[in-house]
Amino acid sequence: MQKLVIDGGRPLSGEIKVQGAKNAVLPVLAACTLCSREVRLSNCPCISDRYGAARILTSLGGKVRADGTDMTVDCTDIDSSSISSELMRTMRSSIIFMGALMGRTGKCTLCYPGGCDLGPRPIDMHLSAMKKMGAVITDEHGIIECSAPEGLTGCKISLSFPSVGATENILLAAVTAKGETVISNCAREPEITCLADFLIACGAHINGAGGSRITVEGVERLSAPRESFAIIPDRIAAATYLSCCACAGGELMLTDCCPAHMEAILPLFEQMGMYVRSFGSNIYIQKTGGLKAADTIRTMVYPGFPTDAQAIIMAPLCTAEGTTVFVENIFENRYRHTGALSRMGADIRAEGKVAVVTGVPALYGAASEAPDLRGGAAIVCAALGASGRSEITRTELIDRGYDSIEAILSSAGAKISRII
Ligand code: EPZ
Repeated sequence: MQKLVIDGGRPLSGEIKVQGAKNAVLPVLAACTLCSREVRLSNCPCISDRYGAARILTSLGGKVRADGTDMTVDCTDIDSSSISSELMRTMRSSIIFMGALMGRTGKCTLCYPGGCDLGPRPIDMHLSAMKKMGAVITDEHGIIECSAPEGLTGCKISLSFPSVGATENILLAAVTAKGETVISNCAREPEITCLADFLIACGAHINGAGGSRITVEGVERLSAPRESFAIIPDRIAAATYLSCCACAGGELMLTDCCPAHMEAILPLFEQMGMYVRSFGSNIYIQKTGGLKAADTIRTMVYPGFPTDAQAIIMAPLCTAEGTTVFVENIFENRYRHTGALSRMGADIRAEGKVAVVTGVPALYGAASEAPDLRGGAAIVCAALGASGRSEITRTELIDRGYDSIEAILSSAGAKISRII
């Protein structure tokens, strides 16, 4: 079993180029299913979920080539509309191939998706939107069959919750549906805007992405962007490296990131006492002394504080002076990292949506298992600042969303290695 071995207590220094966004490249790869010409993508992170999406595309008859962070995807001749359970279960975002396949072929066969165990994670909003657009859906023992032989028809859809995945699925189904689709109370995350920008570059007619109401006018078919399409920077990976510095000390310059996507994140690092300056696509951070507890942190939909950064920002706050209260409003089971942090000496009491973190003078290295993607990343952050050695298993969960995390941190002075 692979593990990351970290000898903590070494301040970081240097420059880190932030990877492309996992949660942007996955919907864009699904959207390639709609394109009848070859698509070129750049700034695609080399993460295992990207390979999962590529496997799904090739299983549908698409052709995928990769050269580092550049990808070429050709779905001109896709010849299937069903995705195996094994491929569906590799990640949550496999479910947004539903909208893409319905948009391209008018049918699909798939099962419930996988992904981090953060709670029930139902897909009711996805399914009810497809039905509203005219799909006939059966669910036999978890195998979902969708069909719309006459194609989908645009309509008004109001989401009960601004679900990221449901918004993406509806967008992918609506761009080639007959007539107009209006999505109200939709997700506003930057990854939604990235997907919409990609679809528009392919010839889709979309207005309002980034706001809470998106209008789509269906077109006959999508072509492909004329130029290579660049995936936006990963705001959660950027937050992770800022947290590594807050835990380990030292200073970092993050490049190729988008500070504008992090307006709910950066002030928290300043609040805890870090020196933070952003300019252009760079963020400079420096630890100038002991950390202080932050005001109550409530996870919200964008542009609020992102749930994906909750575990990550908890790591440095474990050794901040004072008490920080967390309220997790998005997922039911997103404190699975608190056990590992407590075994490193943290004082955390988690109950339901709330976790109370009381700072301790220091953490110490321990052996732990990554509970999920962002929980695993939080344990890495904490281990960098802990005294002594930590060993973290289930690294495959961390590799789902982070491109070469040990190489990047080693280059910034961390003592971290991967034992195969
Ligand atoms: C996306 O998941 C991200 N994943 C998650 O990132 C992120 O945490 C989440 O959005 C929220 O920002 C990808 O983009 C691949 P949701 P998604 O639909 O689409 C409930 C990471 O670490 N819900 O916005 O699954 C759901 O249970 C991952 O990178 C329904 O009830 O999130 C949750 O409580 C983790 N019914 C809430 O809505 C539905 O039909 C938000 O889910 C759909 C969702």
